[in-house]
Order: sequence, then structure tokens, then C-alpha cells
Amino acid sequence: MDDMGNMNLSPRLQAVADMIPECEVVVDVGSDHGLLGSYCLSSDICRYVIATDIHEGPAKRTLEQMKVYDGRCETRVTDGLTGVELKENMNVVIAGMGGLEISKILNDALFSNGSIPKGMKFILQPQKSHYELRSFLSANGFAILNEKIVIEKDRFFYSVILVEYTGETYDLNDEEKFFGPVILKDRPENYVEYMAHEKEVFVKRALGDVKCAQILKNWEKYL
Ligand SMILES: C[S@@+](CC[C@H](N)C(=O)[O-])C[C@H]1O[C@@H](n2cnc3c(N)ncnc32)[C@H](O)[C@@H]1O
Repeated sequence: MDDMGNMNLSPRLQAVADMIPECEVVVDVGSDHGLLGSYCLSSDICRYVIATDIHEGPAKRTLEQMKVYDGRCETRVTDGLTGVELKENMNVVIAGMGGLEISKILNDALFSNGSIPKGMKFILQPQKSHYELRSFLSANGFAILNEKIVIEKDRFFYSVILVEYTGETYDLNDEEKFFGPVILKDRPENYVEYMAHEKEVFVKRALGDVKCAQILKNWEKYL
């Protein structure tokens, strides 16, 4: 909290929070410390928060963090969105996990736990496996509406992705899967630093991965 009583989030979590459209209910999957849910309630992004975590410890931490908002929040120990009935007035955040884990949670929500209403928004912040996550999104009807890049401590790079479930599948090429279709098209804040960082990653990956070698060969198009 700062002197004015406002909550301070890390740049990464602040970027996630800034990407959440105002709504009735935010579902925070993998809530851990509960800071995002508290922020959503204190800044009136939503009226109610459902926080889920697969482990008891983080769920308890979340409950402790959000207890001042009694009556406006609940915490559930569950895998992903299991047991959460998804409704049109909700937005779902899945942040701070790998892209494969995020894909699995969305896949379970689509095919095992009922369904996802069309038009529902998801704010995703993968720690890794961006290629695999965007492959899943395009193949399963999640349209990518917006993407931002965040840098922390000059060396940690994150992308935050806003998607809408439409049910309509579409194609992305390899570079769009790696870097993000919106990031490539709009070149948002931190694009230059992000691509410089990615180039270093690609120089190493290109040794064992033909897709990466091909992308690296034409790198000047990203400058
Ligand atoms: C690194 S923390 C991220 C916390 C927070 N979302 C953030 O971005 O700062 C990941 C949290 O997700 C939880 N988690 C991992 N897999 C999960 C799953 N399948 N369903 C729910 N929670 C999960 C972990 O227990 C942990 O508390």
C-alpha cells in the first residue's frame, strides 16, 4: 500500500490488472498471494472475486489477503476452473503459469467442466511456452484481442494476452505464435527491448530448432 492507501502491484501484475475489462465477477485462477483479487476489489474492476488455487497454502494466503472484502469474494481449492460455473458476466485471469498449464486449464474448461460462454474474456500471462499457448488458442477458438509487453528489473520480459472465446478457429503462422500477432502488428511499448531479448533466445534455439533458425534468418523484418 502507498501513502494514499492504494495497493502497489508489481509491473507484471499491474499490467495484468490493467488488461481486465470491468465486469461483475473476476475469476483469478492460481491466486497464490491474492494480491490481484484484492486489487480488483479495491479498484472496483469488479464487484466479486472467485479465487482458485490448486494448493491449500496459497488458497489460505489468498483468503487472508482478501478478508477485508468479506462478502465480495470466495476462495476455492481446485484444479483450474473445475467446479466454477462460467457465466457471461465473468472475466477469467490465469497469470504466472506456463503456457502448457494455461492451455490445459482452458481445455478442461471447454471439454471436461461444462463449457465456456461465447464472448467470455480471459487475461492470460504465460511464463513460458508462448508458442504452444497461442497454437492452442487459435486451434480452439480463442481470439487474441490485445497483447502487451512488460519488463521487470530490466531483464524479465512478460507478455499479457487478452483473449475472447468465440468458438471460431483460425490460423497463426510460426512468428505470430512465438511473438504474438498483436505484438508484431502494433509494436506496443517495450517492443524494441523485447525483440532484442528474443533475438538472444533465438540465437541459442536456432541451433536445434529449424523453425527458430528460419525466423532468425529474416530477423531484420522485426527491427
Ligand atoms: C507462480 S504463482 C502465480 C500467482 C499469481 N497468479 C501471479 O501471477 O502472481 C502460480 C500459482 O498457481 C497455482 N496453480 C498451479 N497450477 C494450478 C492449477 N492447475 N489450478 C489452480 N492453481 C494452480 C499454484 O499453486 C500457485 O499458487
